Amino acid sequence: MSNIVLVGFMGTGKTSVGRRLAEKLKLSYIDTDDVIEQDNEMIIADIFRQHGEPYFRRLESDAVCKVSGLDNHVISTGGGVVIREENLEMLKRNGMVFSLAATPEEIWKRVGHEIHRPLLQAPQPLDRIRKMLAARAPFYARADCIIHTTGLSIEEVTDQIIEVFQHAIY
Ligand code: S3P
Repeated sequence: MSNIVLVGFMGTGKTSVGRRLAEKLKLSYIDTDDVIEQDNEMIIADIFRQHGEPYFRRLESDAVCKVSGLDNHVISTGGGVVIREENLEMLKRNGMVFSLAATPEEIWKRVGHEIHRPLLQAPQPLDRIRKMLAARAPFYARADCIIHTTGLSIEEVTDQIIEVFQHAIY
């Protein structure tokens, strides 16, 4: 088990925590959203706009397949990666999967000022977050470990993950 994989809803801190984890553990960092954008030479918002969500999910599975073959990486994923069961299976094969959780209010506080997430461009974004979180909760629960991040700093979340991960591998 050589990778640490972060899943979780948008705004739960996967990118910031992932980068910090990689730094502290001297691992490489990779993010499936970045892989999708690089491989397709298109930003995520444009992929959604021009091709729709089902097409994006296919590209996302391709990216998951690619990163699952890596070793010694911290892998951050897009918030919807867990929806396809096979994605989680691929990621678990060579990694320990941590699910970062936060309350809808905390998520809204963290992402409310950002405009690049197509799925949150809704008239009632907090309601949308609540509904999506509820629908996805059973999928996030399939991770190896759930970390509640509300009220915690990036450093605190990072340290919790390191503790669990090191305990699991030694
Ligand atoms: C999505 C989350 C986004 C990105 C895409 C879809 C989702 O990633 O993959 O906009 O379905 O929750 P982040 O969780 O990194 O924002």
